[in-house]
Amino acid sequence: MNASLGRIHLVSDDITQLSVDAIVNAANHSLLGGGGVDGAIHRAAGPELLAECRTLNGCETGQAKITRGYRLAARFVIHTVGPIWHGGHQGEPDLLAACYRNSLKLAADNGIQTIAFPAISCGVYRYPLAEAARIAVREVRNYLADDDRIETIYLVCFGEDVQHAYQQALQE
Ligand code: APR
Repeated sequence: MNASLGRIHLVSDDITQLSVDAIVNAANHSLLGGGGVDGAIHRAAGPELLAECRTLNGCETGQAKITRGYRLAARFVIHTVGPIWHGGHQGEPDLLAACYRNSLKLAADNGIQTIAFPAISCGVYRYPLAEAARIAVREVRNYLADDDRIETIYLVCFGEDVQHAYQQALQE
């Protein structure tokens, strides 16, 4: 499934297979790998990714750090740490929005023109999909309205439920 709306494209592929300038990793504070998309990215990138991550001294929730992509098709990986869902009253919405904003700024500042995001926090971190998709689409739209350095932003829908949530969010 590939739905596009100008510079925002929904894709259903495995993010590790995308030939884009940068893919975004839904990491944890340690940046030393994990399960989900984090595990998939580290497996595909190979051991040099972990070696570079070890030099980054972790990452705060809502922040983003960049590494090379190594064996990935993507030249760069932008690691961001999404909030764990605790019901929505501990700053989760603002922290999730910050993940998208900070990743996009870091990408643009590094000359990245095409970037793919997984649904940050929507797996292990249990963020409700509909709300997370609304935040992702809002932040991506706001970024694209202000800055034309990034050409195309891919939102990766790993599963029907994610795809539906993004399609809904794009129609709002
Ligand atoms: N490509 C694209 N999307 C993927 C892939 C993949 N190969 N694998 C998983 N996803 C999707 C999930 O289906 C979900 O929609 O990425 C989204 C984020 O889910 P998680 O990977 O579980 O990330 P998150 O919820 O942010 O939890 C982060 O999980 O893996 C650990 O180390 C990670 O501790 C961190 C936590």
